[in-house]
Amino acid sequence: MTQTIRITSEEELPQVAEAVLAAAGQRTVVVFRGEMGAGKTTLIREIAAQLGCTDTVTSPTFAIVNQYKGTDDRTVYHFDFYRIEDLREAYDFGYEEYFYSGDLCLVEWPERIEPLLPDEVVTVRIAVESETTRTFDIE
Ligand SMILES: Nc1ncnc2c1ncn2[C@@H]1O[C@H](COP(=O)(O)OP(=O)(O)O)[C@@H](O)[C@H]1O
Ligand SMILES: [Mg+2]
Repeated sequence: MTQTIRITSEEELPQVAEAVLAAAGQRTVVVFRGEMGAGKTTLIREIAAQLGCTDTVTSPTFAIVNQYKGTDDRTVYHFDFYRIEDLREAYDFGYEEYFYSGDLCLVEWPERIEPLLPDEVVTVRIAVESETTRTFDIE
């Protein structure tokens, strides 16, 4: 089942974040697909905010993962696999401990680690239509 939401301004991102969280339900791994600058990090920032995270949300380009604390001390992981060149790097980094931890994992550039993704992922596809207009497919 795919839900499509089109927004014409960043200010409408809260409704997209709500839809992603609702679609996720009990599933804990959410992957974000879309070109550089599509809005993956920006949407994840809004999702984290809705979960009560007060940490600064930026792409963890060098660290691979950022950890945030939400309401009731809930842990949220934010990954960016853009710089991963070999699956071994993901194994060495211990990706499984995160993906199967039961904590929410928000993943940018899942394309880099495609074979390692769990079966039960929620996918958010972001398409850029103009400078401020984006279409989000949530499935
Ligand atoms: N409707 C929108 N949704 C998300 N981002 C938007 C939107 N309109 C403009 N932007 C801008 O697009 C850029 C997206 O950057 P970013 O979230 O870092 O992308 P990515 O993580 O996909 O590379 C930001 O500068 C953001 O302000
Ligand atoms: Mg990003």
